[in-house]
Amino acid sequence: MKQSVKMIAGNWKMHGLGASLVEVDELAASLAAEPTEHRVIICPPATLIERLSGKAAGSAVEIGGQDCHEQVSGAFTGSISAGMLVDAGAGLVIVGHSERREGFGETDALVAAKAEAALSAGLEPIVCVGESLAQREAGNAVSVVTAQVKASTPESGPGRRFAVAYEPIWAIGTGLTPTVEQIAEVHLAIRTALVERFGEFGGAVPILYGGSVKPSNAAEILSTPEVGGALVGGASLKAADFLGIIRAA
Ligand code: 13P
Repeated sequence: MKQSVKMIAGNWKMHGLGASLVEVDELAASLAAEPTEHRVIICPPATLIERLSGKAAGSAVEIGGQDCHEQVSGAFTGSISAGMLVDAGAGLVIVGHSERREGFGETDALVAAKAEAALSAGLEPIVCVGESLAQREAGNAVSVVTAQVKASTPESGPGRRFAVAYEPIWAIGTGLTPTVEQIAEVHLAIRTALVERFGEFGGAVPILYGGSVKPSNAAEILSTPEVGGALVGGASLKAADFLGIIRAA
C-alpha cells in the first residue's frame, strides 16, 4: 500500500542533555515556516520528554519514548511505564529495538507485552524487528523478520494505532544500508505477515525502515514500495540532518 503521509521518527538513543533541545527549537521553527505533510517524531531519552513536550506544544513535532515496562506499575527499579511516558507528554513509544533485544535479552513475547502496555496507556507503539548479519548471510532475513512480526506485534492492535519498524541490525550505525530491492523484499514480507495476522487492518499499519538513513539516501528509501517512514538514529540528532530527511520524504 502506498502511504503518502510518512512517519519520520528520530531515535536519540542515549544521547542528549538539556542543551540538545535547541535542535528541536530549530526543527519546530523550520516546520512552522515550511510545513510538511509528514509526521515528525522525536524519541529523546526519558529525562528530556517532559521538557521537550513543553517546547513542542503547538508545533508539528510529536514525542515518543524509547522503551517502556510491560507492567503498569510496581517494584521495578529504574523502569518506566507507558503511563509515565504519557504523563510526561509522549504520544508514542519504540519497543523491541534490537539494542534492547540484544543488550537486555528482550524476547518477542516481552516486546508484544510492552506493545500491549503502550496501547493500553494510549501510546502508539513502534515495534522494531530486524535480522542480524549472520541471519541475512544464512538466507534467513525474511523468515526471521516474519516470525518477529507475528510474535511481537500487539494482539489487540487492530483498530488502534501502531507501526512496525524494519531495522536490519547490520545497518544500524554502520553507514551500510540494504539495497532498495532488499528493503522492498522485507517490507513486502512484513506487510504479508501483518495481513495474515490482522486481516484488512494489517494492510494499513505503517512500516518504517531504519538503519543508516541520512539526507542523501532518504528519498530513495522512502519511495520504496511499502516503506511508510523512517526510524533515524544518528542523523536525527542534528536538526539540519533530520530536516534533510523530512524534506526528502
Ligand atoms: P542509525 O540511523 O544511527 O543507523 O540508527 C538507526 C536506529 O537504530 C534507529 O532506531
